[in-house]
Amino acid sequence: MSSQVTLSLNSAFRVAPVRRRTFGAFVEHLGRCVYTGIHEPDHPSADEHGFRTDVLELTRELGVSSVRYPGGNFVSGYRWEDGVGPVDQRPVRHDLAWHSSDPNTVGLDEFMTWAKKAEVEPMYAVNLGTRGVQEALDVLEYANAPAGTHLSDQRVANTGAEQPHGIRMWCLGNEMDGPWQIGHKTAEEYARVATEAARAMRMEDPDLELIVCGSSSSAMPTFGAWENTVLTEAYDFVDMVSAHAYYSEKDDDQASFLASADDMDHFIDAVVATADHVRAKLKREKRIMISFDEWNVWYQHRAESRPPSGDDWPVAPVLLEDIYSAQDAVVFGNLLISLLRHSDRVASASLAQLVNVIAPIMTEPGGRAWKQTTFHPFALTSRHAKGEVLQVNIDAPRFENQRFGSSSSADAVATWDDESGDLALFVVNRDASGSLSLGVDLAAGGFGELELVEALTLHHEDPYAANSADAPDTVAPQVNDTVVVEDGRLRGELPAISWSVLRLRRTAA
Ligand code: AHR
Repeated sequence: MSSQVTLSLNSAFRVAPVRRRTFGAFVEHLGRCVYTGIHEPDHPSADEHGFRTDVLELTRELGVSSVRYPGGNFVSGYRWEDGVGPVDQRPVRHDLAWHSSDPNTVGLDEFMTWAKKAEVEPMYAVNLGTRGVQEALDVLEYANAPAGTHLSDQRVANTGAEQPHGIRMWCLGNEMDGPWQIGHKTAEEYARVATEAARAMRMEDPDLELIVCGSSSSAMPTFGAWENTVLTEAYDFVDMVSAHAYYSEKDDDQASFLASADDMDHFIDAVVATADHVRAKLKREKRIMISFDEWNVWYQHRAESRPPSGDDWPVAPVLLEDIYSAQDAVVFGNLLISLLRHSDRVASASLAQLVNVIAPIMTEPGGRAWKQTTFHPFALTSRHAKGEVLQVNIDAPRFENQRFGSSSSADAVATWDDESGDLALFVVNRDASGSLSLGVDLAAGGFGELELVEALTLHHEDPYAANSADAPDTVAPQVNDTVVVEDGRLRGELPAISWSVLRLRRTAA
């Protein structure tokens, strides 16, 4: 017999409007993300710029809103100038972060062309590892200044277009707290250079949206203290602080892995608390928002994540090509639930990454592109989350796990679009021990009369089942025909380890 879960929702329980930027992703010069990922001039589907149109189509289908570029760890040793101008004159460089060679055939201008085709907003990271304020200003001038300056005229000459790129979101370096980062800094050192870069960039354009590096993970020994030091100095010059988190099943501890979103919730709450502590200390009105610009499931300790070594500096090696299971997709969908639930403070998020590298989209060089299991919760949430995010009250049994003690078997968030009358409920059963019987009282929610439009569930009898190029639909959402709306009540069965989207529409006020 399955356990009961009761969800309470009300159109008045509003968190914040759904932000399109929650559905961002990330393209780094890493492994096969760029080369043979988004860009492969010899591929049968390549367009006139060498971009794979099969990947462009999947990116649009995924519903990606913004894309962070060009790194990641890569950016901390990157010279942006290497990637602009005539392609045949661009230098090949060693990328120290991933022990690879970069031919630089894709750079800022190509990325902007791709972003337009993919219909995504760009988010650009500057190098504050080996470089500093001047280079940040240079790339800003190159990208955004109207024609008539030294660097903007180079852009016009290189692209043949007068129009500036108009990039609004800029990351001030990447994971500068991490000892693995090229040019790693103490909080004080980073606070200085980030504040000066931000101040100077605002002199060029006061309307930029600037993201200062928070901790690379909440497990860092400096977590909290880092945010405090950095924000205390940079507060007036930045809009967002970054957060990064990756989850994986460790030591066969499936239960803790299934509850990963509890960690994301705590992480976000802790960063908000620290940012608001600095706000109080400095007596400021403005609130700093979070850019959760790297999040995903990532099996970091597997061989897939080991960079080449020694004399081997390959171009576009197979790196971080994790294959995701049904269970990974459920945890992943739950992480998106957590991000949406925090839409009052998470102003932007980027799934790391988009293609081949810990990615929802995989490609074969010269061949097929296919969807990983994680593609589905992302695409469906991006497509159906509309209007306002609603807080959901969850009354569910709990399951024991080592990491958190105990966690709720069910987790959920809803969105409500008053104008169209669309209600979407995103819900997970993250308990491996059995199915849950869901009950939601809709009559008292102030939604008017609702009918069921669609109920889709992602689940597989084998939680470790995955997709592949040959079997791309092994794990995909299926219609859940146990879900019904009767007498103002929604009910249905949620199988163990499943993610669902339940869509309803108002039929009468
Ligand atoms: O997304 C993969 C890597 O994870 C990024 O390059 C880095 O910022 C993080 O540690």
